[in-house]
Amino acid sequence: MTIDFMARPLRREVLQWLDQAVPAKRLQHILRVEAMAIALAQQHNLAVDRAQQAGLMHDLAKCFTPSQLLAVAEAEGWTLDPAETDCPHLLHASVGAVVARDTFGVTNPQVLNAIAHHTLGSPDMDALGCVVYVADSLEPGRGDTPQLQHLRQLSYRDLWGATYETCVASLQHLLENRRPVHPRTILTHNSLLPSHRHRKAVSSAA
Ligand SMILES: [Fe+2]
Ligand SMILES: [Fe+2]
Repeated sequence: MTIDFMARPLRREVLQWLDQAVPAKRLQHILRVEAMAIALAQQHNLAVDRAQQAGLMHDLAKCFTPSQLLAVAEAEGWTLDPAETDCPHLLHASVGAVVARDTFGVTNPQVLNAIAHHTLGSPDMDALGCVVYVADSLEPGRGDTPQLQHLRQLSYRDLWGATYETCVASLQHLLENRRPVHPRTILTHNSLLPSHRHRKAVSSAA
């Protein structure tokens, strides 16, 4: 597939960097997220080049070591939640946005936020953020369970609904596996809940 929305030299530069920074399997995931982010942006009339950039760069820091992640957090002056101190890997999304900014000169706040929010979500997520958040969880390589098939279909019909349901699935997974839940994931859930309830009420009244 030819993907031609983003400036070609930048895409080539990012791919060359990723080739050194992540294993081949991770790179395939990244390319599937990029492709799904493009498709969702087209479907929902969003800026396709921004969705592509954020999709391609969402996991720049995926393979950073805990000490690398913590060093960036310290240099940026972030206050860490105990969940991040306990599991620095949770920082890879925010650190990825720093790499996109500092290594690839990305300045667009929508793109940087979409990268930063792709794992934990955010109550401030916009539609582009939702695109990358759901593409990361629902890209075809994630599997083919009935739940994933349903969420994929939903993401093309109702982006915010799919974001809410993806957030719920992520919370369920964390709780079932006795993993810490970052407060931002709870805040994301709670911020999406009122519109989810509204959509349910409207669809049951119809
Ligand atoms: Fe990630
Ligand atoms: Fe990812």
